[in-house]
Amino acid sequence: MSASPQSVAILGATGSIGQNTLDVIARHPERYRVFALTAARQDEVLFEQCRRFQPRFAVLVDATAAARLRQRVREAGLAVEVLEGAQALCEVSEAPEVDAVMAAIVGAAGLAPSLAAARAGKKLLLANKEALVVGGDLFMQAVHTGGATLLPIDSEHSAVFQSLPEDPASWERRVDKIVLTASGGPFRTRDPATLAGVTPEQACAHPNWVMGRKISVDSATMMNKALEVIEARYLFGLAPERIEVVIHPQSVVHSMVQYRDGSVVAQLGTPDMRVPIAYGLAWPERIASGASPLEFATLGALTFEAADDQRFPGLPLAWSALRGPAGTTAVLNAANEEAVAAFLDRRLRFDHIHAVNDATLQRVSPSKPQSLDDLLALDEEARACARQQVARLPI
Ligand SMILES: NC(=O)c1ccc[n+]([C@@H]2O[C@H](COP(=O)([O-])OP(=O)(O)OC[C@H]3O[C@@H](n4cnc5c(N)ncnc54)[C@H](OP(=O)(O)O)[C@@H]3O)[C@@H](O)[C@H]2O)c1
Repeated sequence: MSASPQSVAILGATGSIGQNTLDVIARHPERYRVFALTAARQDEVLFEQCRRFQPRFAVLVDATAAARLRQRVREAGLAVEVLEGAQALCEVSEAPEVDAVMAAIVGAAGLAPSLAAARAGKKLLLANKEALVVGGDLFMQAVHTGGATLLPIDSEHSAVFQSLPEDPASWERRVDKIVLTASGGPFRTRDPATLAGVTPEQACAHPNWVMGRKISVDSATMMNKALEVIEARYLFGLAPERIEVVIHPQSVVHSMVQYRDGSVVAQLGTPDMRVPIAYGLAWPERIASGASPLEFATLGALTFEAADDQRFPGLPLAWSALRGPAGTTAVLNAANEEAVAAFLDRRLRFDHIHAVNDATLQRVSPSKPQSLDDLLALDEEARACARQQVARLPI
C-alpha cells in the first residue's frame, strides 16, 4: 500500500454508483481521500456528502443549485470550494492533485470529463458506459496517449477484466469469446403483448439491482446489455462476433471468458456494485467492499438461457451499430437517451423505445467523427432526430 492516501474525484457522487463509491471509501480512510464530488443539481445530497467527506471541491452543473450549496457550505464553515457549470467537471477530473477519477455520471454528459481524465493520465474508473459508447475509438486513443489506467466498473466488464490474462497482447490469441451475462430485467417472463402499458415505476423495479432510473429502464429493454456489448468491444478489442450475451436471472455469475481450449473462467459474487467499485479502487490489491460473501450451500440453482430477440429487439442493435461506420454507436446512444427520458416523462410508450432507436439509426448517417466537438455535434443531431420520432408516435 502507498504511504499517502489516493486522492479521488467522484463524478456523479449523488447517484447510485457515486454513493456506493463513497460507502467503500468510508471503509478505508487510510487509503483514500476525496478531492472532489460532483452532481448535476442535487445540492442537498451533495451538501451532506461535503459535510461527511470534506472534499477540496464540490461541483454542481446547475448554477442556482451551486449558489444554494455555496451558501450552506459557508454557513457550516466547511473548507469546500463550490464550482459550477459543465467545464468545472473537466477541471476537477484533470487536476494534478487527483490520482483516480470515478466516472459515474449517467449518459453522454459524462464524456467530456471522462476524456479529460483519460488525457490527463489518471486512473479512470469507468461506470459511465455511455461515454465509451459515444467516444469509441477516440476515447480509447485518449486513454492510450494520455497514459491513463482504465478500469471498468460495470460488474460484467469488471468480471471479464478479472477473468482475462494479465497481458492484453495475449487476449486475441488465447481468448475465443467473451460471454456477458444479463439478468433479463423485470420483464424477462412477461407477455410481450402487454409491454405497451408498462409504467416507469414498473420498469425501474429491477429484480436484483438498485440503480439509477436510466440504467433501470435500459435493463428492462436490455438496451443496457446492448450498450455493454459495445463497451466490451472497445474495452477489450475483440471483434463484435466474439462477444455473446446469455441470460442468467440470478446475477451471480457476472460474466465469463471462454478460452481457445474450451476452458471458461468466470467471476462470481453477490449482486452488489461495491464489489467492482472496491476492485477498481484498490486494483491490483483487494480490499473489503462491505458486500455479503456468496454462500454456496444456500445459493440454489444458477440458470442460463438464450436472450430472446423478439422480446428484446434492442439487443441486436449493438452488433449492427458496431458494424456501421464510426459514430454509429454514438447515434444509437443519443437516440436511446432521448427515448428513455421521454418514457420516464410519460411522453413515450415503453414498447416504442426500440422504434425510436431503430428509426434514428436509419435516419442519421455519421460522418467519421474526429474530435470531441464532432462527437457532440453528432450526438445533438441524433437527439434532434430522436425527439422528432418521439413526437410522431402515439402515447
Ligand atoms: N447503478 C448501477 O448499479 C450501475 C451499474 C453499472 C453501471 N452503471 C453506470 O453508471 C452510470 C451512473 O449510473 P447511476 O445508476 O449511478 O445513475 P444515477 O443514480 O442516475 O446518478 C447519476 C449521477 O450523474 C449526475 N448527473 C446526471 N446528469 C448529469 C449531467 N448532465 N451532468 C453532470 N452530472 C450529471 C447526477 O447528479 P444529480 O443527482 O444532481 O442529478 C448523479 O450524481 C451510468 O452510466 C450507468 O450506466 C450503473
